[in-house]
Amino acid sequence: MGKIIISGASGAFGRAAAELLLEHVQASDVILLSRTPANLSELAARGADVRFADFDDPANLPAAMGGGEKLLLISTARVGTRVGQHRNAVEAAVAAGVRHIVYTSLIAADAPDNPAIVKLDHRATEEIIEASGAAWTHLRDSQYAEAIAGPMTIPALMAGGKPDNCGEGAVAFVSRDDCVATAVGVLTQPGHENKAYVLTGPELFTIPQAMAMASEIAGKPILVEQVDDDAMFAYFDALGAPRHASDIVPDGPIPWSSDDMVTFGQAIREGYFAEKTDWIERITGRKPRSLREVMLAHKGSWPL
Ligand SMILES: NC(=O)c1ccc[n+]([C@@H]2O[C@H](COP(=O)([O-])OP(=O)(O)OC[C@H]3O[C@@H](n4cnc5c(N)ncnc54)[C@H](OP(=O)(O)O)[C@@H]3O)[C@@H](O)[C@H]2O)c1
Repeated sequence: MGKIIISGASGAFGRAAAELLLEHVQASDVILLSRTPANLSELAARGADVRFADFDDPANLPAAMGGGEKLLLISTARVGTRVGQHRNAVEAAVAAGVRHIVYTSLIAADAPDNPAIVKLDHRATEEIIEASGAAWTHLRDSQYAEAIAGPMTIPALMAGGKPDNCGEGAVAFVSRDDCVATAVGVLTQPGHENKAYVLTGPELFTIPQAMAMASEIAGKPILVEQVDDDAMFAYFDALGAPRHASDIVPDGPIPWSSDDMVTFGQAIREGYFAEKTDWIERITGRKPRSLREVMLAHKGSWPL
């Protein structure tokens, strides 16, 4: 097997994928890309080839991508402004000889009427990869259970409740760790070329059901108040969130925009994410973690 490149390797997904990949292949076959290679010194000491890469600057990318056969392209962080970054990465990878690109996409990224604006740059990136000449695998991850157990549950516990515009829409929340394990499976097994996999957890829950579970585990109340999209915008405005991704202040206090959050809720409400698959078990040989397991693992960080 040729060398495998992981981008964004100092992020949450990337670091976990790098550590797991090192359990499956020789360290000399692992290339890790980051804007902050110093944060990966421990993995470099284990023999991984750690390289600088900034997708905003195409000039540094040929050296970053050289010698790789497969690339795990982890979507960069800022919704609405990342397609150009991804295009730079794909073009440099293919020019350097990468033959298979595995991309961390989103459930329902290909649903034309899905109102979630986050899907626009995921689908645009998928199309860039499909047209690149490399083989592709799109990993269309459901919403992360960790995002529910951490950033959603903690403020809800502190306030005793939260507004919500997801209605009765359900999501099979998936553990990021299971998505990482599936990505490593796709990178190390044959037969995943030119496939799109929707990766989900084992059970569908509405947001009120998920918050009821958190409340029961915490032993504290969480009152979910159903509101419309305008009220949801007003709630995020009051928190100081920018409306649009282009207004996000780099390294500012709120790294997301309200139009992303509100349209994500709208997509849940309209049923776009209400899908459950068994791809994680088929690719990893392991049942996906439940939302309850992920919540119990986070309980130590909750304000109880
Ligand atoms: N399905 C869901 O519910 C859900 C939830 C959260 C996130 N996600 C997706 O999963 C992705 C990874 O999540 P995460 O938690 O690992 O996020 P994260 O920790 O913020 O990682 C994002 C990575 O993007 C890389 N990056 C940012 N700007 C870059 C640039 N200019 N050039 C090259 N790399 C750049 C960073 O790598 P370096 O700092 O190492 O350069 C960073 O490690 C997110 O971007 C998002 O698309 C999905």
